[in-house]
Amino acid sequence: MKAIQLRTEIPGPNSKALMKRREAEVPRGPYHATPIFAARSEEAIIEDVDGNRFLDFAGGIGCLNTGHRPGQIENAIRQQLEKYLHLCFSVTPYEGYVAVAEKLNSLMPGKFAKKTLLVNSGAEAVENAVKIARAYTERPAVIAFNDAFHGRTMMALSLTSKTHPYKAGFAPFPGDVYRLPYAYCYRCSYGLTYPSCKLACATALEDAFKRVVSAESVAAVIAEPVLGEGGFVAPPKEFYSTLQEICRKHGILFIADEVQSGIGRTGKFFAIEHYGVEPDIITSAKSLGGGLPLAAVTGRAEIMDAPGIGGLGGTFGGNPLACAAALAAIDLIEKDGLLARSRQLGRQFAERGKQWEKQFQIVGEVRGLGGMCAIELVKNPATRQPASEETKKIAQYCYQHGLITITAGTYGNVMRILVPLIVTDAQFAEGLDVLEAALSSVSMPVPEKQLVTSNL
Ligand SMILES: Cc1ncc(COP(=O)(O)O)c(C=O)c1O
Repeated sequence: MKAIQLRTEIPGPNSKALMKRREAEVPRGPYHATPIFAARSEEAIIEDVDGNRFLDFAGGIGCLNTGHRPGQIENAIRQQLEKYLHLCFSVTPYEGYVAVAEKLNSLMPGKFAKKTLLVNSGAEAVENAVKIARAYTERPAVIAFNDAFHGRTMMALSLTSKTHPYKAGFAPFPGDVYRLPYAYCYRCSYGLTYPSCKLACATALEDAFKRVVSAESVAAVIAEPVLGEGGFVAPPKEFYSTLQEICRKHGILFIADEVQSGIGRTGKFFAIEHYGVEPDIITSAKSLGGGLPLAAVTGRAEIMDAPGIGGLGGTFGGNPLACAAALAAIDLIEKDGLLARSRQLGRQFAERGKQWEKQFQIVGEVRGLGGMCAIELVKNPATRQPASEETKKIAQYCYQHGLITITAGTYGNVMRILVPLIVTDAQFAEGLDVLEAALSSVSMPVPEKQLVTSNL
């Protein structure tokens, strides 16, 4: 049986009625990728309030690597429900928090002592990572990258790159944030080509210490191992080792923001493992809570212990239900082989994408790392002019045909895949068929071109 089953026009009457209520009562700020309202969800399927069944390729923006409501996670939450809900770790500590910390400490790359702080959201994890790095180094500055997304709270927003809709109108931002071009080879800021570029984007850090900010005032460099909102760009393999070497030389910490790329998304538990680098601090969130809000800052023990007692925390951080769900989610990733599944989905996507690059003029680059994969859409492969309007149309075609997708990229011209990793082969193929039809609806066929999946 097909996963997608549509009974009404999209959106249906019940969704339309709810959208009217939403428009009257909720500020316009929170954006919707689709106009349908959910009634229930299971595995990789969302059913809306009009009885339409959609295949979910967005996973709540990467929060559902383990799928919608897997039995193990539901059971763990139910068992926790019968014990206690909220206590506040700062009032009466409980084992679940410590168990999640132990698990993440064991999973962070590096054979050194580690500690983990639990918070509620990705942005809060980034805020705390910066606080901890500043407390440890006793330095103020942070270096981030173009096309980065680190969240919507003020410090996280200062680190975030994209102006509209994220930053415009919300200034002033916290200071001492500096920015360098990312290793975005398809749109290299230096006009160079890998590998003859010799990683100019990574060595630019040394130059920045002379021209932009002195090395001895920099606490940390923060980067997403694979750009999330910026368009699923996976840098060449020496990028992070080069960055880290420069950081180490100057006593600067390297923070890997794994909020979107972590928790198995790329086929390793943390995406930075693909690069053989051991960051000083890793932030994680999204799929960590298996569908409940939970985020973490994991790092070298001596760094994590820099802030004094009471210097870190928060009322809800490490909520017991979310901790129970996180332990079950990580267990599921390990026992159900979801890392291997992510790599397999990435291969299947690259295979289809290879055909699309040949078939459709609009497909500029097919790329990704494991199950964190995407296509960048361009008006013309020679000029690489972003096809932003066409990307919107593709996403719209998809949901109208039962496939929930989300876009990404500074130019809004990237279709990204964050499908739950438990999706079946048949469902994944069905979703890719819809995406292919969507591409076909906006694109002219072209002569053969080259496929670039990853420089790794
Ligand atoms: C890399 C990265 N960091 C931070 C955040 C912010 O996370 P949250 O929305 O949970 O605050 C996101 C969210 O998409 C993200 O992708």
